[in-house]
Amino acid sequence: MERLQKYIASSGYCSRRKAEELIKKGLVTVNGNIVSEMGLKVSSKDEIEVEGNKISRENKEYYLLYKPRGVVTTVSDDKNRKTVVDLIETNTRIYPVGRLDYDTTGVLILTNDGELANGLMHPRNKIDKCYVAKVKGIPESKNLKLLLKGVVVDNVKVRASRVKMKKVDKKNNTCMIYLTIHDGRNHQVKKMLSTIGLEVLKLKRESVSFLTLNGLNSGEYRILNPKEIHKLYNEIGIKKEQ
Ligand code: URA
Repeated sequence: MERLQKYIASSGYCSRRKAEELIKKGLVTVNGNIVSEMGLKVSSKDEIEVEGNKISRENKEYYLLYKPRGVVTTVSDDKNRKTVVDLIETNTRIYPVGRLDYDTTGVLILTNDGELANGLMHPRNKIDKCYVAKVKGIPESKNLKLLLKGVVVDNVKVRASRVKMKKVDKKNNTCMIYLTIHDGRNHQVKKMLSTIGLEVLKLKRESVSFLTLNGLNSGEYRILNPKEIHKLYNEIGIKKEQ
């Protein structure tokens, strides 16, 4: 038995907070009866509907993909391009947690666990996403510091929590910028670097929280183990029974 709001969240329908709102608004029924108080315990034997949609709970699946270049981070693509979901052998409706651009490579989590996905994407939880970018241009250190102070991207101030420059190649006017961010706005890294005059030539996400690409080649994936899932839940501040 599980609390109704948690049950709805882990079905992937919405976050736990949103589920609480929907319950309060009287938009949730259990076995045909509207439930508007928090805390009711339910199980998979109960018939639950949210805003008229039946909630079903599948087994949860969790994958870590080394996203290759030239693949779209969506469930289906209207231009019929290969998607990240096509790279994973499963019959379950999984989806990517956050987005990497078509030409970006690196760590991507895919799951059908909405509660975890929402938690990992929410900036409040300050999940480290570490990128390495090969850029055209060699920034002055005062400009790199601007990334730590905060730069405006699409009218929102965003900042990196860590920035480092390596492999300065003066001859070709390129270098590698390592940076860690907590949010995941569209093209955020490219746009942040462009504010200090750098063009991204290549971008790779090296890690999300403690998950790295170790042991994987581009295009390969592995299933996350229960310990890792537990640790990810800890990272988003939710205690999960094992
Ligand atoms: N920031 C970008 O600019 N692109 C990505 O793919 C991810 C983060």
